[in-house]
Amino acid sequence: MNVGVIGLQWGDEGKGKIIDLIAEYFDIVTRFQAGHNAGHTVYRNGKKFVVHHIPAGIFHEKLTVVMGHGMVVDLEALQREIMELEHGGVVCTGRLKVSDRIHVITPLHRFAEAWEEQFRGKGAIGTTRRGIGPCYEDKYGRRGITVGEVLDGTWGEKFNYNLSRFKCLYPDVFQTHEFAQTIQNFKTFLEKAHEWLRPYVEETDAYIRKAFKSGKALLFEGAQGTLLDIDHGTYPFVTSSYSSIGGVLVGLGLGPKAIHKVLGVSKAYTTRVGAGAFPTELKDDVGTFIREKGKEYGATTGRPRRCGWLDLVALKYACDLNDVDGIVLTKLDILDGLETVKVCTSYRIDGKLTSIFPARNDILVRVEPVYEELPGWKEPTYGVRDVRMLPSHARTYIRFIEEFTGRPVVILSSGPLRDETAWFVPPAELFGGDS
Ligand code: GDP
Ligand code: IMO
Ligand code: MG
Repeated sequence: MNVGVIGLQWGDEGKGKIIDLIAEYFDIVTRFQAGHNAGHTVYRNGKKFVVHHIPAGIFHEKLTVVMGHGMVVDLEALQREIMELEHGGVVCTGRLKVSDRIHVITPLHRFAEAWEEQFRGKGAIGTTRRGIGPCYEDKYGRRGITVGEVLDGTWGEKFNYNLSRFKCLYPDVFQTHEFAQTIQNFKTFLEKAHEWLRPYVEETDAYIRKAFKSGKALLFEGAQGTLLDIDHGTYPFVTSSYSSIGGVLVGLGLGPKAIHKVLGVSKAYTTRVGAGAFPTELKDDVGTFIREKGKEYGATTGRPRRCGWLDLVALKYACDLNDVDGIVLTKLDILDGLETVKVCTSYRIDGKLTSIFPARNDILVRVEPVYEELPGWKEPTYGVRDVRMLPSHARTYIRFIEEFTGRPVVILSSGPLRDETAWFVPPAELFGGDS
């Protein structure tokens, strides 16, 4: 069975932990969009790893992991990531496949993004500054450089064209010593990159299609979350790729029948890094409590994450959009001990009540959330491995989510470690069965 795992919020829902948890039921784990703006945390033998480009399935030795062509890659960062993993005892060679059609992030993208963010001033997106957006811009502008061109050594002409273009657009940046030095270093790096990169690169679309045809089980690892999707998210405060389920097909070269099940990952509350509307944001002590207890600091940039109550209007939207079969609920343990917990069940916009999520930032900033207050639970859910051991009010909270979204919660994550998990539906039933 092939399963997509998609973030249902603004990212950092705990996708890394969940991919690592369920990867053993699959043969191949593959990313299909974005790059090292993602930060997916996995604990292995007591050690913390954060993967950015490489699928979180890498920690299971029997698995092959694939970076599909819909991604973008910073080759210097990828090389570091591979080295760090190998240093930590995780073998990548022979197990990691990188598409030859992935677009390459260059320093031009990082410089352009820094300029753009500064120029936007108060309207800045609050990006991860990894060059992701400008790299996708060049892809769609049909001037991007691919991994295949790096291997073949045919990137020079295109790079020079992009350099001239950059000079016209950002003359002040172009003139700086820092720029000249960075570009020189990058060219030297890229000239030699084929030496270490070649063993990882292949035409992964064909590989994945063949694997699908021969009945291998594929796990599609989403990055970011639905509300950051370029088309379906809170535009313009979004990322630059398709982070919802549609991205799987375009980002890997598969037909619609290749996705058999969709799991959506959601925290028991909401967080967001970067700017943009956030109706249920808590700027009070409860928000601080969640941030500190939940260690809500970015896995990629270390920025404090904005925190708030669970927004069921947004969650239902994400479930519907992705055609979610089951919800994986994470970090319920962070709400342990609260007297009461709130969930947003509708929006008041310009005096009118609605339960329809407006995927437009300009409307979303005007939303006044309407809450339902539910009783909290004193007994800890942290580390619970058996759903029968859940406090009754925690169960009520979960049931409320299920009823509102019309989707079952199939897995409860009760802590950051792989085995800190309670299964509502046993894995054999979730991932076994015929597709
Ligand atoms: P991702 O980007 O969706 O993979 O999520 P991140 O790794 O950026 O952030 C999720 C954070 O929550 C990580 O630090 C995880 O170790 C942690 N985490 C995941 N699930 C749970 C859980 O159920 N409880 C607690 N307390 N922490 C969790
Ligand atoms: P994972 O996969 C949370 C956010 C940034 C910013 C916006 C655009 O770990 O869940 P970008 O650099 O992508 O152009 O920034 O998207 N963002 C994320 N927020 N988790 C992520 O990834 C994110 N990747 C990008 O903070 O608001
Ligand atoms: Mg993350």
